[in-house]
Amino acid sequence: MSTQLTDKIRQLKAERNAVILAHNYQSGEVQDIADFTGDSLALSVKAAQTDADVIVFCGVKFMAETAAILSPAKTVLLPDKHAGCPLADMMTAEQLRELKRKHPGAAVVCYVNSSAEVKAESDYCCTSANAVEVVESLPRDKEIIFVPDQHLGRFVVEKTGRELILWPGYCVTHAAITEDDIKNARAAHPDAVVMAHPECTEPVKTISDQILSTGQMLKFAKRSEAKRFIVATETGIIHTLKKENPGKEFFAASRRAVCPNMKRITLEKVLWSLEDMHYKITVPKEIRTKAKNALDKMVAILPAK
Ligand code: 13P
Repeated sequence: MSTQLTDKIRQLKAERNAVILAHNYQSGEVQDIADFTGDSLALSVKAAQTDADVIVFCGVKFMAETAAILSPAKTVLLPDKHAGCPLADMMTAEQLRELKRKHPGAAVVCYVNSSAEVKAESDYCCTSANAVEVVESLPRDKEIIFVPDQHLGRFVVEKTGRELILWPGYCVTHAAITEDDIKNARAAHPDAVVMAHPECTEPVKTISDQILSTGQMLKFAKRSEAKRFIVATETGIIHTLKKENPGKEFFAASRRAVCPNMKRITLEKVLWSLEDMHYKITVPKEIRTKAKNALDKMVAILPAK
């Protein structure tokens, strides 16, 4: 890593009174320059609490939008304006309105990997870390629409024993991890614990040992007595897993599990973002107010582990 580059970022960050938030899927060098790294839930909590004037969000657009909704007085910058999320793009607000018309009494829980417009149409937001707790907080006889990730939705169905009305969205990066990948990784590392993200497909989750959000994977790996782990999620998290657990080994379940959108953010773009104060992410007030309602409930419900 060029120290000149990182020095410049640090200097500008101080001048702008900025904070750098990075998701666990960012490249190692971007995670290392960040003030905070974490999963979607932890970063949302940080974005809501920080007293910095500027938030540089090293993640994808819906994450920066979430920060802009939770902290409307701050300037939120996304270092690459094309860092989107195909899963979030799999449902439009109009499609959700249509689903609501079909199920008029249902409450809507939306995964944070969704647009601000979809959040504005939802009653509750959740992340993979607290989706089970959010659904369980609703009365048992309440009909629930859960969007847009079908795989996270099915995980919640299994955990809660409740029926959910699902949407066929999915994460393309997690879908690239196959059952054979897990079997091959297990054959290569028979004593390893398999940690899979709930966005993985059902066959992958069925043969994994632990289903965890990225933040939960970091906690689990630290606490576990195991020495080897197979990681079935975006490979960026392996950087922090290794850094925090020098005596343990971590193997990617699949080398294809690289999110091209997350990896659009580079150190150079973080610097340019602070220099030129781009790309500003804003959410129109009408959408923001409604979406904030769903997000506030999400931030209030922290997961059990
Ligand atoms: P986490 O909530 O585990 O950070 O997951 C975010 C995400 O986008 C998964 O694809």
